[in-house]
Amino acid sequence: EKAGYKHFMAKEIAEQPVVLGDALRHYLTLDGVNLPPELDFSSIERLTLVACGTAFYACSVAKYWFETLAGIPCEIDVASEFRYREPPMPIQSYALFVSQSGETADTLAALRYCAGKVAKTVAVVNVPSSSIAREADLALPILAGVEVGVASTKAFTCQLLALAVMALKAGRDRGHLTKVQFDGHLDTLRAMPGLMNAALTTADDIAKLAEQLAEAQDILFLGRGPMYPLALEGALKLKEISYIHAEGYASGELKHGPIALIDRTVPVIVMAPHDKLFDKTVSNMQEVMARHGKVLLVTDGKGVASAAEGTWAHLRMPEVAEPFAPLLYALPAQLLAYYTAIAKGTDVDQPRNLAKSVTVE
Ligand code: F6R
Repeated sequence: EKAGYKHFMAKEIAEQPVVLGDALRHYLTLDGVNLPPELDFSSIERLTLVACGTAFYACSVAKYWFETLAGIPCEIDVASEFRYREPPMPIQSYALFVSQSGETADTLAALRYCAGKVAKTVAVVNVPSSSIAREADLALPILAGVEVGVASTKAFTCQLLALAVMALKAGRDRGHLTKVQFDGHLDTLRAMPGLMNAALTTADDIAKLAEQLAEAQDILFLGRGPMYPLALEGALKLKEISYIHAEGYASGELKHGPIALIDRTVPVIVMAPHDKLFDKTVSNMQEVMARHGKVLLVTDGKGVASAAEGTWAHLRMPEVAEPFAPLLYALPAQLLAYYTAIAKGTDVDQPRNLAKSVTVE
């Protein structure tokens, strides 16, 4: 069932344009979005998004979207912290629980904590028959299809899509987005499968770079704005399957400590589409280069033209309108982890010490 691929992870990375296309057909109509009408954000005062691991990073990206597209205060937390903090929950709020398996013990416990305390609990899951889906007031499917690889890939991008669609609906419900802005964002999402296909053509280049990345002891990922959580996701993916120590940082945090790690042996992967924060990220990247860090810049054509000089390497992504670049840049992050693990010879689909579904606390 690997359909000719060497690993489930490779197959699941490659099928993202198709599954995302399926999810788009479900969630977007000709002139709007297909979400249950009772999911009405107009008088919601706060959102709380709770998850673990990769699903938490999807929530972290979505926080930017809910805040900028809909103007809703949005809190995020990892489930294992949230559930024991006894956080006060305003009744005029929604709590969202994002989980591929729908069985993650901490996420389920967090959902149970919120039941009855908020206006609605909402599950965003891949497995519709799961505990989290059944116990939430409302369950939205991410429609990624069965994910076998332990390292989550297509579930991540499909989680992002479902959350993006919700943020856009929230933007309309609250009058934060004009119809023209809303339609423009829908067009960006509709273009995503095509852009993803283009991003996948960098796989051979990534495989070559990975041979050198595989030699590293430590690798840093940097990003700003909605690309910051993607830096965290890139680092998580890399460490879980290649066993190379990796950290993601907000680009602006570099000078507050991690820059001390930089020398010629440390690759620094900078995820930076040419957006309004690009110049800020480039100046952080130049600080790394001044200390002989080995920069891999992942950007678009404009970014390559203005900032690729002097880097160790760059990867060119197609241009994508703000703020949805994380959906696209997830692919090179996944491919970097995958090919680095291949170069190291580790077991990509069954990394040591990890389980697909974490039903213990
Ligand atoms: C990382 C990964 C894990 C899961 C986490 C949550 O690649 O797969 O970090 O994302 O264990 O799992 P779900 O989404 O099933 O709740």
